[in-house]
Amino acid sequence: MKVLIVGSGGREHAIAMSVKKSPKVDKIYCAPGNAGIGEIAECVPIKAMEFDKIAAFAKEKKIDLTIVGMDDPLVGGLVDVLEEAGIRTFGPKKNAAILEGSKAFSKDLMKKYNIPTAAYENFDDPKAALSYLETASFPIVLKADGLALGKGVLICNTLEEAKEGVKSIMEDKKFGDSGNRMVIEEFMTGREVSVLSFVDGKTIQIMSSAQDHKRAKDGDEGLNTGGMGTFSPSPFYTKEVDEFCKKYIYQATVDAMAAEGREFKGVIFFGLMLTPNGPRVLEYNARFGDPEAQVVLPRMKNDIIDVVEACIDGTLDQIDLQFEDNAAVCVVLASDGYPVSYEKGFPIKGLEAFEGKDDYFVFHAGTKKTDAGFVTDGGRVLGVTAKGSDLFEARKKAYEATEWIAFDNKYMRKDIGKAIDQQG
Ligand code: AMP
Ligand code: GLY
Repeated sequence: MKVLIVGSGGREHAIAMSVKKSPKVDKIYCAPGNAGIGEIAECVPIKAMEFDKIAAFAKEKKIDLTIVGMDDPLVGGLVDVLEEAGIRTFGPKKNAAILEGSKAFSKDLMKKYNIPTAAYENFDDPKAALSYLETASFPIVLKADGLALGKGVLICNTLEEAKEGVKSIMEDKKFGDSGNRMVIEEFMTGREVSVLSFVDGKTIQIMSSAQDHKRAKDGDEGLNTGGMGTFSPSPFYTKEVDEFCKKYIYQATVDAMAAEGREFKGVIFFGLMLTPNGPRVLEYNARFGDPEAQVVLPRMKNDIIDVVEACIDGTLDQIDLQFEDNAAVCVVLASDGYPVSYEKGFPIKGLEAFEGKDDYFVFHAGTKKTDAGFVTDGGRVLGVTAKGSDLFEARKKAYEATEWIAFDNKYMRKDIGKAIDQQG
């Protein structure tokens, strides 16, 4: 079969690598893809938001299955456009992707269906938000309603900071139209866990847990980024946590979406916080995490095509989803200065060291192929993943592998997975 993947990051490279393993697949295309994906798929110069062009391409090439990796096209309704054109597609339709696309929607959904989350209020008027803050307790969390590249969340320690925050989100429109509405919510504490799941509209099967490192610098200092590294499984995702979430969060979310007439098919990513009062939902995403996908997918035993098709067909209950009994760590190699400003165009050396090694993976995020070879072309450049028998071994191997790669301005966090040292 012919598969088309939509997106251009490390996540889509990890999806492409999983798809390539399937004996059912003869040809992979990626729109627009990146230089690394281009080594295993044919990249086509169509952007993820060019819906009509994607549909025309998929028809022309008689694509059997399209997998949408990125949030923007999902929230914008690419799946609806493709399905209307008769193209079989994996991912939520627009009316379901709103689970990620609007924080106000997802908070109201959780409240209505008693899904545990932080207490909150929604606002579409800055004056009402400011007057609410006068009697609030601090710290408090402000969230722009719409997609904001993971940056639309402000944690404010004082009333002054929070007032500034409301101004920047709702009046100065720092995050664009995603700040037309805003959520103000209770500040929670605890460890964060990412749980990705496959959903077919009624059945949900969760994947192995993971943890991201969102801040740019060691010790969770510095600015928020797309993610500087991940590990899987999370040792903090215990049997008790799993049982709680199965009882109150996972199926409840799928059922709530169905009850609202917004049947969800695709991947739901639960961003959880393990608070002293139990697990709470921080946020939902309607897609694989990036770089969570780079540690979760390499550990999945199933043929990804079987699982994705079962989600589309509503037969996920017949899939026995299995993960290897091991661990994986992904360290992101970034351009120094990310996420603010950085230089690019530097030659990348050492990629060939990964060839033929089953336990090591290098996922491209921001690279470009030139006549002189691969060069850096973004903030997050590569994701270096290693699998090991446990998290300690996986971390050791991942950091060893980061040394095989060289480029000017190479920057990485040195403490990815360090949290596991605190686990008995
Ligand atoms: P979100 O995009 O909603 O996941 O928020 C981004 C990050 O902000 C999360 O990963 C948390 O680290 C932090 N955050 C979001 N909401 C809260 C909250 N209610 N309490 C504490 N931290 C939060
Ligand atoms: N790693 C977090 C995300 O993909 O949103």
